[in-house]
Amino acid sequence: MIIAANLKTNLTRKQTAKYVDELESFLNKNKISQEVLVFPAASSLNAHSGKVVIGAQNAYATVNGAFTGETGKEHLDEFGINTILIGHSERRHILGESQEELIKKFNFYKELGFKIVYCIGEPLEIREAGHEPMMEYISAQYEGIDVSYENLIIAYEPVWAIGTGLTPTLEEIESIHKELKKKSSAPLLYGGSVKVTNAKDVLALDNVDGILVGSAALYVDHFCTMCEYAQSIENKN
Ligand code: 13P
Repeated sequence: MIIAANLKTNLTRKQTAKYVDELESFLNKNKISQEVLVFPAASSLNAHSGKVVIGAQNAYATVNGAFTGETGKEHLDEFGINTILIGHSERRHILGESQEELIKKFNFYKELGFKIVYCIGEPLEIREAGHEPMMEYISAQYEGIDVSYENLIIAYEPVWAIGTGLTPTLEEIESIHKELKKKSSAPLLYGGSVKVTNAKDVLALDNVDGILVGSAALYVDHFCTMCEYAQSIENKN
């Protein structure tokens, strides 16, 4: 299973280093062999070797150049980073990233062989419009994306569930994941208000290959517990 922490604009460089160290020792001590990804803020990126894989929350489709405020491939190379998150709803909706821009990023980092966690998900008004409009909206987020890319991981994160404490029901998650799996056989994560209290149930669902956790992952002990849940589910299978 894949257990991923999106730290967003939280934790300083020093706090992140401590977080990664604590997580790494927990995984080793508890013999956790699941894939664990951590996406720190750009200024907290650092080289790390061990079980924890560090990824970038964002980067521009360039090696370097005149793109003020952006991070290029060269800057990720410096820390040995070859994992990236693309299409998060906060970048789509708050930072205004278009599907065209995401396709450019996707193709650029795909060419470089990066592991890409590609996020999709619908806002509340789309969900409320009914199943068909919702699936149409989500399908548009697959446009231009090579769904058979071998290093692709897809994360389904309903926008209305992010940071709100609201989640779809377990049945709803299972049913949408079943539909999404028809579009791509890439590992499919669920994200949106995953906490220690619901992680085990979500991870146990069919067609859920892991979780992408925001706020609850800021507590390293909570995130460690979720990694432990994933391991125990995998051990049972
Ligand atoms: P929350 O877990 O805070 O809802 O955030 C989810 C998320 O956006 C992960 O990418």
